[in-house]
Amino acid sequence: MKTPFISRERLAELTAQFPTPFHLYDEKGIRARARALHEAFAWNAGFKEYFAVKATPNPAILKILKEEGCGVDCASYVELLMSQKLGFAGDEIMFSSNNTPAEEFRLARELGAIINLDAYEDVAFLKEVAGIPKVISCRYNPGGVFELGTSIMDHPEEAKFGMTKAQLIQAFKDLKELGTEKFGIHALLASNTVSNDYYPALARQLFELAVEVLEATGIKLDFINLSGGVGVNYQPDGEENDIAVIGQGVRQAYEEILTPAGLGQVKIFTELGRFMLAPFGLLVTKVTHKKQTYRTYLGVDASAVNLLRPAMYGAYHHITNMDRPEGPTEIVDVVGSLCENNDKFAIQQELPVSQIGDTLVIHDTGAHGFSMGYQYNAKLRSSEILLEENGQARMIRRAERPEDYFATLYGFDFEK
Ligand SMILES: Cc1ncc(COP(=O)(O)O)c(C=O)c1O
Repeated sequence: MKTPFISRERLAELTAQFPTPFHLYDEKGIRARARALHEAFAWNAGFKEYFAVKATPNPAILKILKEEGCGVDCASYVELLMSQKLGFAGDEIMFSSNNTPAEEFRLARELGAIINLDAYEDVAFLKEVAGIPKVISCRYNPGGVFELGTSIMDHPEEAKFGMTKAQLIQAFKDLKELGTEKFGIHALLASNTVSNDYYPALARQLFELAVEVLEATGIKLDFINLSGGVGVNYQPDGEENDIAVIGQGVRQAYEEILTPAGLGQVKIFTELGRFMLAPFGLLVTKVTHKKQTYRTYLGVDASAVNLLRPAMYGAYHHITNMDRPEGPTEIVDVVGSLCENNDKFAIQQELPVSQIGDTLVIHDTGAHGFSMGYQYNAKLRSSEILLEENGQARMIRRAERPEDYFATLYGFDFEK
């Protein structure tokens, strides 16, 4: 079972105050998760989490994480700007971009962000458009398949990200010549892994690479960035990742590989998004229609514009009917109102027999939820509400209005 972080009674107060649909975030849970992560990596003196802004790009959330000692991982101009305006210092900003426009490299350089180069070809490009910084990271793609035990987790050879080992070593040689003094490496080899073995296995690969880099170039890496990829269990039962176990697994690899190679000073960085935020967000929506044809459809006031993962990846998100904790059940499709048949939050799922007006919560929407939204059918993005540690609720983004949608159009005057 998944238990929402808010009671039925408190949520009823919130839905009376804020029109649905809205994304609701749990400050208490976010802070506890950040503390658990720091605790798990406390053995590494330089450890830092650079929260992946793309997961939940809201200043109120980023401020909470900043207070908990996190930096930010940005991948675009606007994410960089937001981070700057929130007062993140240069070394608190990782810029892990790809296919990067020149102006984004320029802004990253102005802010003193740590640039994480995605391509060998970017060495020359960065030199030309923004100059070579003193600190830099390179993103590694080992190719082939990435396996954990007997399971194939992902296919790095098919991924557009990162550079080959030979390219990475050559990039470091070039960058050293060009004046870079401190170096890091980064890799993201699988997404949403629910396994305590992912980070340790990735760490082993990167630690071995660090030793090869030292042998080939004489460079002692300053940091190793394990990126994101530690996932959450979206299903109502089964295992969750245990960050304390993960931290110890990375430590063991560190002590086996890096310390004996004279690299015991290397800082460990992470760029987690999903693990930090997903469980601490709920998409709150109301049942607006019920339709019976070959199936039973529950129409809700949220749609794929508010949460794209089910439509895009067929991703499962557990749903709780807050008004009917028990009672008879039925098999339903839970659908939004887009003119797209993939606009479904649940397909043939067993839910309590629901009525129009019931409040549903869609679980684990705190990361890659609101932020993946779009505006198909001219549907407008919802508000975001923060449930503060003190129990108060605060709007941290208002819902879009028609005038927001019209604001970028030329030759159309909404006011007329
Ligand atoms: C470069 C980079 N870092 C970090 C992340 C965060 O990944 P996750 O949310 O799985 O932790 C992503 C996800 O897309 C990414 O592309």
